[in-house]
Amino acid sequence: SADRSGVWRFRDLLPGPYSLEDLVTLSEGNTPLVHGLKTGKSTGLDQLFFKHLGWNPTGCFKDLGMTTGMTEAKHVGAKIVACASTGNTSASLAAYASRAGLEAHVYLPSGKISLNKLAQALEFGAKIVEVDGSFDAALDQLLNTKNDDIYFLNSVNPFRVEGQKTVIFEMMEQLDWRVPDVVICPGGNLGNSAAFSKGLEELKEFGFIDRLPKLVVVQAAGANPFAELWRTGADELTPTEHPETVATAIRIGNPRSWRKALHGVKMTGGFVMEVTDEEIGEAKALIGLDGIGCEPASATTLAGLRKLHAEGKLDRDATVVAILTGHALKDTDYILKAHAKANEARLAEVNG
Ligand code: F0G
Repeated sequence: SADRSGVWRFRDLLPGPYSLEDLVTLSEGNTPLVHGLKTGKSTGLDQLFFKHLGWNPTGCFKDLGMTTGMTEAKHVGAKIVACASTGNTSASLAAYASRAGLEAHVYLPSGKISLNKLAQALEFGAKIVEVDGSFDAALDQLLNTKNDDIYFLNSVNPFRVEGQKTVIFEMMEQLDWRVPDVVICPGGNLGNSAAFSKGLEELKEFGFIDRLPKLVVVQAAGANPFAELWRTGADELTPTEHPETVATAIRIGNPRSWRKALHGVKMTGGFVMEVTDEEIGEAKALIGLDGIGCEPASATTLAGLRKLHAEGKLDRDATVVAILTGHALKDTDYILKAHAKANEARLAEVNG
């Protein structure tokens, strides 16, 4: 399936001396750009496209970096691979580790990740380490683990960034190499923003494109250290002590890749913003009604665009690509609770 991979078809732009048989792949990538209909109307945009990375093998963009990271892990002879995660990385790591025949250890913030994602990690045979506290505590615990046999596959692993940058290449192909005006993505640990920056920079450097889309990063208001950094213009990021948001995937207070992400945002003339949990919920519902669906963290993109539209900051003719990072079924608990609440409100109305 190596030749079917939407990542490895760009291997001229990827590291590694690997032979085709060495690649650890599940035919990731090749995800569509979907035109936004109701969502486009709600933002006044004729050309709103969703790049749906949730339509990857484990339902999330993490697979794009896991195929490259796991291939490298196997190449260097790793026996155990590990990550800290808000859920999606652990699901992806578990799946690709199984393919590679490696043992997977995943460090998760106890009680704070979607059960769907936990179920995936279990299904794919990972060893689960539950950590009290947030993702940040889980990552600290993992990094302090004294075990030389562990190969770390967190998003700071440069091989993961390499796979994730191919999103930009694929997006440009799908747009027939017409550079969009804006690429907007959620910001958690900021690995994706860093990867997109690298992809854009390389395309420009190699002469494939002559201008750059604005890279806009959206955080949840309760987990917004990068948005705060942008707003204040501070030199150093101040971590959010107790990050809190319904979008558990991005409930992160101390994003590790903020310098690279900041470089990308500045290089492209973009910016960083934040949206509330309520705005995320409304945007997510609209994406659902477009027949597309996504998990809460992904909906920060449309929530951000709706906010920009309300402020008159979106040009109707602009071409905008919103990155949807995770599948709707990644957090069914959130959906069912949101609809139960909506039903209660409707009943209350009917009953006066
Ligand atoms: N969207 C989803 C669905 C995610 O799972 C994540 C991160 C992000 C957005 C943010 O991406 O960290 O590159 O800025 N999830 C990680 C995990 C932290 O462990 O699954 P980022």
